[in-house]
Amino acid sequence: MTTVAVLGATSGIAQAALREWAGRGAELRLVARDPDKLARVGADLETRGASSVTPVVLDLGTDAGVRSAVESVFAEGPVDIVLVAFGTMPSQADADGDESVAATLLHVNGSLNVLAGHLAALRLIEQGRGSLAIIGSVAGDRGRQSNYLYGAAKAMVATAASGLQHRVAGTNVSVTLVKPGPTATPMTDHLRGGPLKLAKAETVAADIVRAVDRGKPVVYTPRKWSLIMTIIKLLPRQLFERTKL
Ligand SMILES: NC(=O)c1ccc[n+]([C@@H]2O[C@H](COP(=O)([O-])OP(=O)(O)OC[C@H]3O[C@@H](n4cnc5c(N)ncnc54)[C@H](OP(=O)(O)O)[C@@H]3O)[C@@H](O)[C@H]2O)c1
Repeated sequence: MTTVAVLGATSGIAQAALREWAGRGAELRLVARDPDKLARVGADLETRGASSVTPVVLDLGTDAGVRSAVESVFAEGPVDIVLVAFGTMPSQADADGDESVAATLLHVNGSLNVLAGHLAALRLIEQGRGSLAIIGSVAGDRGRQSNYLYGAAKAMVATAASGLQHRVAGTNVSVTLVKPGPTATPMTDHLRGGPLKLAKAETVAADIVRAVDRGKPVVYTPRKWSLIMTIIKLLPRQLFERTKL
């Protein structure tokens, strides 16, 4: 039986992935900060076939919280899959207006996600097998005026994932960096009904589960974002700076 641990289990994308793993009868260890939401998510996953659900209530906004989360999910025995899915996306305008919003955005999405991936990878290396998936973003591929703080944090995640992949090369541990495009979850509620087409969380989740099954190093999801970001990265600076991206 597969054991799956998720840090940020109440995330829209994580919940959709968890439903897939629950459907396979997985044993789930779930970390989130909101006990009521976590209880609802856990109950839903039990009805969808999870063989067991262990909830762990922790705030992942500090290094101590992240360390406790990793310790808790490995305390009950080996873990086959770890998904790091917590994050926050305040607007660039909110971050402009309050440097503590900017600092938290950078810390939670950047250093604390990297710390979570690093600590989880150390445990997987110690147990000699397992898969780590960590959610970056297409926003990490090129800094844009509308969200370069969030993008910078996600670029940090991408660099750490690359280093971890190098570290575990040739072992039975795999590290998958997930790069979703804009996806319909609570994080993007403010974008609903706008010009940008949001992917379904279920589409992104299916790509995550498949990429983990295959031990893929990087997955753009939906797939078209690989091509879109290749073009955006190749746009000459003068042309890029004329866009409103
Ligand atoms: N949606 C997109 O368009 C998109 C695109 C690219 C990448 N991503 C990334 O995908 C991941 C999942 O996001 P999502 O789209 O599923 O958004 P979401 O539904 O808003 O999920 C974000 C999750 O992070 C949790 N979280 C934030 N700060 C936390 C803290 N200090 N302690 C514990 N949990 C905390 C939230 O907990 P609460 O439920 O308690 O608030 C929530 O469960 C994030 O890394 C995000 O950056 C999303």
